[in-house]
Amino acid sequence: MTDTLQTPVELGTPVLEGTDHVELWVGNARQAAHHYRNAFGFDVVAYAGPETGVRDRASYVLQQGKVRLVLTAPLTPDGPIAEHVRQHGDGVRAIALRVADARAAYEAATARGAHGVGEPVTVSDEDGALTFASVATFGDTVHHFVERDEYAGAHWPGYREERQNGRGVGLRFIDHTVGNVELGKMDDWVAFYSEVFGFNVFQEFDEKDIATKYSALRSKVARDPRSMITFPINEPAVGVAASQIQEYLDYYRGSGVQHIAVHTDDIVGTVDAMRQRGVEFLKAPRSYYEALGDRAEGIDEDLDRLEDLSVLIDRDDDGYLLQIFTRPVGDRPTLFFEVIQRKGCKGFGKGNFKALFEAIEREQAARGNL
Ligand code: FE2
Repeated sequence: MTDTLQTPVELGTPVLEGTDHVELWVGNARQAAHHYRNAFGFDVVAYAGPETGVRDRASYVLQQGKVRLVLTAPLTPDGPIAEHVRQHGDGVRAIALRVADARAAYEAATARGAHGVGEPVTVSDEDGALTFASVATFGDTVHHFVERDEYAGAHWPGYREERQNGRGVGLRFIDHTVGNVELGKMDDWVAFYSEVFGFNVFQEFDEKDIATKYSALRSKVARDPRSMITFPINEPAVGVAASQIQEYLDYYRGSGVQHIAVHTDDIVGTVDAMRQRGVEFLKAPRSYYEALGDRAEGIDEDLDRLEDLSVLIDRDDDGYLLQIFTRPVGDRPTLFFEVIQRKGCKGFGKGNFKALFEAIEREQAARGNL
């Protein structure tokens, strides 16, 4: 016998380069694409479906700045897409992560404890080859590792190029993507991102910071120190009545992506355009602006204009941020979007949560869920 006894080698964490795309599984991809194009300003850049030889689904790829959304609907009542939509309604199926080596990323992630749900495969067409693999994360959500350095096509083999201009509203890149998980599971999932992906974890807030009369949540943030991909994870805390996180979990039927925050360099222009195109945002109460005090001191924007648009303001030692949240984008009170502009501040709007929750709870009460 020779060298069969090997010293265990600590495998590194997957090396991530950024978010490749976010895929939503929806009931009607054509209409969803129309909505995200006309209301959110995304260009439609690629399509796959029966016309491209794909029999069981239709997918529209939308792009604005670096943000790429894939909207996929099932064409049959059977299979995982139809089942996902039946369970969850429209929601995020995959947060796809760009890597230089999908096989290495998959091997590293699974060796470190991730559950593999798709072995690495290479797919190709006349535009080149693309390799991807998939691991599970919270709920029915997955991460794809996407290696596309050798692929020059519009999106993916099997897709054809489309050119439908969405007249962009200034959305540039994903700032963070938030997961809601069940009570008691937040620490497990931030540990997952720490152990499997090597993310740093920091406390964002707990019950003491953001208890309103009804809603309370706990939140920790997991961030890749290399790519800066950021996943805050929320869990409900026990409040007087159902927390908004619990309402999400009830309607989504489990853990899933709560919101996608997209950065703009001009939140006033972006939100103004989105409002004119019919996007509905949560309304901040008048009292919120009256109570701002020195949090609004020294900001570049006109405070009256921010109040007109219901844009919220928060700050930390490094600067301030401006943010606003859409109403849920579907019928179920689940997925929504955030528009965010950072001016130095590295937080997530902790100071706004009480004001925000009071606004959310007014809507929750209107739905009879409070
Ligand atoms: Fe956020």
